[in-house]
Amino acid sequence: MFKNKKILLIGAGNMGQSLIRGWLKHGYKNILAIDPNLEVKKTLSNLEISFHEDIEHFHFDVDVIVIAVKPQVLDEVLHQISMQDLSKTAILSIVAGKKIKVYQEALGDVSIVRSMPNTPSSIGNGMTALCASSQTSEEQVLLSQSLFESVGKVAWVDESMMDIVTAISGSGPAYVFYFIECLISSAVKAGMKEDLARELAIMTVYGSANYALESEKNLQELRERVTSPGGTTEAALEVLTNGDFKDCIDLAINQAKKRSEELN
Ligand SMILES: NC(=O)c1ccc[n+]([C@@H]2O[C@H](COP(=O)([O-])OP(=O)(O)OC[C@H]3O[C@@H](n4cnc5c(N)ncnc54)[C@H](OP(=O)(O)O)[C@@H]3O)[C@@H](O)[C@H]2O)c1
Repeated sequence: MFKNKKILLIGAGNMGQSLIRGWLKHGYKNILAIDPNLEVKKTLSNLEISFHEDIEHFHFDVDVIVIAVKPQVLDEVLHQISMQDLSKTAILSIVAGKKIKVYQEALGDVSIVRSMPNTPSSIGNGMTALCASSQTSEEQVLLSQSLFESVGKVAWVDESMMDIVTAISGSGPAYVFYFIECLISSAVKAGMKEDLARELAIMTVYGSANYALESEKNLQELRERVTSPGGTTEAALEVLTNGDFKDCIDLAINQAKKRSEELN
């Protein structure tokens, strides 16, 4: 339905490239990217997109502008696109921490869709939360949803939820990677070869996440199924409980949320 829509991506770094690859894979045909980085240009040179090094003199006759630059570059980009007629264009941003009102102050009453994707988007297993300004039409809502469904799952939330979304699913992959690193470190300390430790740890997290997704049982039931009284899992979980694992996670999430609020 949307595959012929004209998409302009501003900033084709890590996240931008994940999006481009997802869109191409899902049949989007009209993709333009702007990025001053010549390495990026080289990386994308074999893809079916058009590429420009700068915004100046660029005509923004597009259905959606996806902003994927670092937060410190956002003001400059908004200033550059504010010169254009954006009345029929959806502005879809993945910039962390910036509220819809930041875009409205720079661009006026146009359609703004704020999003928080995560890095597993690069393999099509992302989780993206979206919220939209009231000027966003139903078609623009569906287009935004479709663009992010090209790289994973999508959830619509109220904008007030974006800081906690950032702390859970935006930053979340880093906590999971750290947890895997800890598992590997313990295995290696106990004498296991690192390659095997890596495979065991990653497959355990991957398998458990998929099992949790597919199972009709809740997480507590799944956990209890592995935990025999007096067994190994119970011994480990006792240490985690006594070591305030849950409080530690809660503290970490709150710190991330606070930082996201400060970035606004
Ligand atoms: N990484 C994550 O986990 C994650 C998750 C959710 C949201 N985000 C958000 O996604 C955004 C992008 O993150 P990223 O990790 O993809 O950053 P990145 O890899 O640094 O990509 C940003 C790209 O934008 C380019 N750029 C700089 N100025 C520009 C301009 N005026 N016009 C067009 N392009 C310009 C940069 O070029 P140079 O390298 O030459 O500066 C770079 O190639 C950030 O705002 C971040 O908050 C990231």
